Amino acid sequence: MGGERSAAILVMVMALLIITTAQVEPAWDYANATFYGDMSGAQTMKGACGYGDLFKQGYGLETTALSTVLFQDGKTCGACFKIMCHNSTQWCLNNSIHVTATNFCPPNYTKSTDIWCNPPRKHFDLSQPMFRKIALYQAGVVHVIYRRVACIKTGGIKFDFKGNQNWILVLVYNVGGAGDVVDVKIKGSNTDWIQMSRNWGQNWQTTSNLMGQSLSFQVTTSDGKMVESDNVAPANWQFGETYEGEQFQTEET
Ligand SMILES: *[C@@H]1O[C@H](CO)[C@@H](O)[C@H](O)[C@H]1NC(C)=O
Ligand SMILES: *[C@@H]1O[C@H](CO)[C@@H](O)[C@H](O)[C@H]1NC(C)=O
Ligand SMILES: *[C@@H]1O[C@H](CO)[C@@H](O)[C@H](O)[C@H]1NC(C)=O
Ligand SMILES: *[C@@H]1O[C@H](CO)[C@@H](O)[C@H](O)[C@H]1NC(C)=O
Repeated sequence: MGGERSAAILVMVMALLIITTAQVEPAWDYANATFYGDMSGAQTMKGACGYGDLFKQGYGLETTALSTVLFQDGKTCGACFKIMCHNSTQWCLNNSIHVTATNFCPPNYTKSTDIWCNPPRKHFDLSQPMFRKIALYQAGVVHVIYRRVACIKTGGIKFDFKGNQNWILVLVYNVGGAGDVVDVKIKGSNTDWIQMSRNWGQNWQTTSNLMGQSLSFQVTTSDGKMVESDNVAPANWQFGETYEGEQFQTEET
């Protein structure tokens, strides 16, 4: 009797452990991966998310372009993924990589082969150095498994001011946590919170005139978490300048 009971308890504890682990670790999903460019990674710049010099901005080579289904019209920009090669002893290396989504891998509907980035394919187009961490160069394309992970960034969220007096355009980058910003609000020292709208990628805009006011931001990511950065930019803020705010709390996953 006692043995049966402890066996039952053990099963329950194990079931609980499995449930808890499943909640903490999102399931892996299937995709494919290719690479672009050479080992210098010089082609890793700019891209459809609106980031600029990826090296200066701290993303470096640890970035990826996403197929149509994963890119979601730019909503996924800034999200981080853990990727591993899968299902080939011939081509796979036993390593994983962490990358941030910075670009779009466009579909090509006139092609009938190698349509990696067309819907409904899930696809990562990686820089060559990243691809070669998880697979052999000669593979060209490999099956991968991936999952979303927390973005680990150094320092605060960065706000890069572009535009002009009548149109403020702010690139929001170096975002930790979920990484993909879904909402941005701005506040001048003399105003209430003002809703910004997405212009493209992670560029957010407002037509409110906020010249001569110190500026605060509320940045919300796809997991619903919000970080407020008060008086990030001083009253004499300038277009062309980048200001640094607070950061999302992140744990390594
Ligand atoms: C694994 O590889 C085989 C042979 O290439 C392929 O048929 C199968 O679809 C692959 N499965 C996954 C999940 O990638
Ligand atoms: C892959 O690497 C992990 C950790 O480095 C190790 O535990 C595992 O045995 C390796 N698997 C293979 C198939 O080499
Ligand atoms: C799309 O594919 C066609 C056929 O292979 C090719 O000629 C064309 O250059 C491709 N378009 C783009 C934008 O890459
Ligand atoms: C991966 O590529 C294979 C073709 O090699 C394709 O059949 C499969 O649908 C792709 N997987 C995903 C998740 O897009």
